[in-house]
Amino acid sequence: MKSTRDLKIATIGAGYVGLVTGVCFSDFGYEVICVDKDAGKIDRLNAGEMPIYEDGLEVLVERNVKVGRLHFTTDLSKAAPNADVIFIGVGTPPAKDGSADIQYVLAAAEELASLLEGFTVIAIKSTVPVGTGDKVEALMRKAAPEADFAVVSNPEFLREGAAIADFTDPDRVIIGTTDERARDVMARLYRPFSALGPPTVFTDRRTSELLKYAANAYLATKISFINEIADLCEAVGANVTDVAFGMGLDDRIGSKYLAPGPGFGGSCFPKDTRALLDIAKSAGVKSRIVEQVVEVNETRKQSMADKVLKLCGGSVKGRTIAVLGLAFKPNTDDVRDTPAFPIIKALQKAGAKIRAFDPEAMEESKAHLTDVTYCVDAYDCVRGADVAVLATEWAQFHNLDFSHMGEIMNARKIADLRNIYTPEDVRRHNFDYVSIGRA
Ligand SMILES: NC(=O)c1ccc[n+]([C@@H]2O[C@H](COP(=O)([O-])OP(=O)(O)OC[C@H]3O[C@@H](n4cnc5c(N)ncnc54)[C@H](O)[C@@H]3O)[C@@H](O)[C@H]2O)c1
Repeated sequence: MKSTRDLKIATIGAGYVGLVTGVCFSDFGYEVICVDKDAGKIDRLNAGEMPIYEDGLEVLVERNVKVGRLHFTTDLSKAAPNADVIFIGVGTPPAKDGSADIQYVLAAAEELASLLEGFTVIAIKSTVPVGTGDKVEALMRKAAPEADFAVVSNPEFLREGAAIADFTDPDRVIIGTTDERARDVMARLYRPFSALGPPTVFTDRRTSELLKYAANAYLATKISFINEIADLCEAVGANVTDVAFGMGLDDRIGSKYLAPGPGFGGSCFPKDTRALLDIAKSAGVKSRIVEQVVEVNETRKQSMADKVLKLCGGSVKGRTIAVLGLAFKPNTDDVRDTPAFPIIKALQKAGAKIRAFDPEAMEESKAHLTDVTYCVDAYDCVRGADVAVLATEWAQFHNLDFSHMGEIMNARKIADLRNIYTPEDVRRHNFDYVSIGRA
């Protein structure tokens, strides 16, 4: 037996969640097989190439593949029979009506059912509407009446860009099951994470499913809240940075997710807030706060484009705009629901020409944007531009050489949509500067 621990793991889906889950468990000594339908992704992983950008991932993959604990395949039948725990980490993208589309979860479960040997825990890591665990269980029982398994909800809270650290040192682990055997297996599985094991909430499956949406909706609420306060700061001549700092010092509030910006994006908050609204609607319950959170976030992108327009004297027709940052946040190449895209599209509609640079997300962006000139670095991007828009707070944008930028730009204007700089920093270099929620 290659594994230094007795539980064997499979993950279905080798995306941000499935891959990080598999890789991190293998690094804790478990034998893991990651399965994905995307043969290109599996080929790249088998060749030692990462299909996503996530700091530290490559080193862990290399280390665990080398000792024979981590494998990648497209063939579920090679993974499922031996596994004690099978994580489902496939996508749950938004359907047209905003609900979470669980077709990939159901398809994976159906495919699994007849392959199981011995007692197996099916742990759903995908973010799924309340009742999905029940549906998965019913579907699997029908497909394989003899199979011995338990379906557990085990939502994932990792943040892209800090996925490895978040996964291996989680604030909490949520395990939704009323099956005693499954509870024991899951508790054993997570125990090596720390001497005492991470703080774990054992609850029922439906509660666990809802908990994930409630947590994401709450974080999204904090972001929309501080964005509205930023607008108010601009209107009354106050400084949102100080407001947020002062608020965050209160333990009851906390400083995280109080950074104003162009609105939340990424693969989770936009879709999960909408899915929560759909869950509430189906249950006949009003979710007025989350409705407003979504609405505030939607209107924010146009108001960011308007900010750039105002900086340019009311028109960007024929102007060249340099957009620094395309990913929805730094340290990831994920551009799903990134605020940069609607802002770029609004500026293009107003007649602007766009140059763009992102350290990791340019390839991913090409399928979503047209008529954009992609650049090799920040300075190449701003060369000849009439305004630079800071759209993602990558570390390399935190120390730009403004003197040099002033020399190579057509006009000295910066719209800092992430408050990377202070107005004093930038105006010292004779730039016109706008940011969020500051005079
Ligand atoms: N990305 C995040 O930061 C994050 C954080 C927490 C939770 N989640 C949730 O986790 C889930 C997965 O998100 P993601 O960002 O990892 O998605 P992703 O799109 O990066 O990866 C999903 C993978 O599943 C594969 N797949 C789909 N059906 C399959 C099947 N039947 N068999 C094998 N592979 C299959 C796809 O090819 C893809 O590679 C979603 O529900 C998401 O909401 C994501």
